[in-house]
Amino acid sequence: MDSPVLKLDQVDKTYRSKKGGRIQQVHAVRRVSFEVKPQHIVALVGESGSGKSTIAKLITGVERADAGQIVFLGKPYEEWRRAMRDYRRRVQMVFQDPYAALNPLSTVRYTLSRPLTNYRGLKGEALEHEIARILTIVHLTPVKEFIDKLPFELSGGQLQRVVTARALGSSPELIVADEPVSMLDVSIRAEILRLIEELRREAKVSFVYITHDLISARMLADDIVVLYRGTVVEHGRGDEVAKHPRHPYTELLLQSIPNPWAEDLEPTVDLSVMDRVTDDGGCVFRGRCPYAMSVCETSVPKLLEVGEDHRAACFRVEMTHDSEVLNTRV
Ligand SMILES: Nc1ncnc2c1ncn2[C@@H]1O[C@H](COP(=O)(O)OP(=O)(O)O)[C@@H](O)[C@H]1O
Ligand SMILES: [Mg+2]
Repeated sequence: MDSPVLKLDQVDKTYRSKKGGRIQQVHAVRRVSFEVKPQHIVALVGESGSGKSTIAKLITGVERADAGQIVFLGKPYEEWRRAMRDYRRRVQMVFQDPYAALNPLSTVRYTLSRPLTNYRGLKGEALEHEIARILTIVHLTPVKEFIDKLPFELSGGQLQRVVTARALGSSPELIVADEPVSMLDVSIRAEILRLIEELRREAKVSFVYITHDLISARMLADDIVVLYRGTVVEHGRGDEVAKHPRHPYTELLLQSIPNPWAEDLEPTVDLSVMDRVTDDGGCVFRGRCPYAMSVCETSVPKLLEVGEDHRAACFRVEMTHDSEVLNTRV
């Protein structure tokens, strides 16, 4: 089996900030583990505040983990720190807002030339040729129609293609795409997701695809990691998790989707508000769980196998799991 491009092992991150003389702590990412195999797409799914962007920042090196390990191409992040330029070339990021990601005064040609000259030393005709090739990959063709455009002359979908083209410029092995379609017009979201799917196949890039939308995750991803307040509550093959969810939170996410392409899917619950109640050793989801039992107040459920390549962290699962184990023993 191919060794993973990226592996997170028990990664933990707490933000500490001072507010009115008091130190506030937000435990944003809690012992998160998952891996991304070559040319695979792994979706991180969860509502606002579940720690998705923090994981993106930890992977891209914008933030440092407090504990655990991030291993890229078999080498721990600590070792990459001596070769950050190389790391940044190999691990690229696509953000939610393509308008904010691009300099309004830079033409498409200039934007795309930056990574090509900085990381690959291209100039002159070779540079021009590569810009045209990358624009073709992201379907901004005919190239001459787009290459001299400024951001304000392009649509949101076209801008996200430019941002993606810029990420491709450094020939990365991994692209972390943080909610890449949630600010785009509903009608063009599928096109951008199709582009990601093409890039993984043809440009041989692996993706961490971040979304609050389980349906797009299911359409696109090989694996889905469901996060609730920084904790992995369910993890498995995309079709398995989305079709046969085993964690009550994943069930809730599925039930709460009226229309996969609706404008405002992201619930506006501030999950950090509940931090005080749930950092005391119980299940992180118990406050909203329709099945909460007394054990959920006092213990944290472990991620347990519930099927092939499928795990969930819930005491209901643990109970059936134990009885299944007992049954097979009998
Ligand atoms: N720089 C920061 N300082 C303090 N708290 C932060 C910071 N960034 C994020 N948080 C908190 O960490 C939690 C996770 O945030 P985030 O990773 O942005 O979640 P998501 O991307 O899933 O919405 C939230 O409670 C958020 O308020
Ligand atoms: Mg986010």
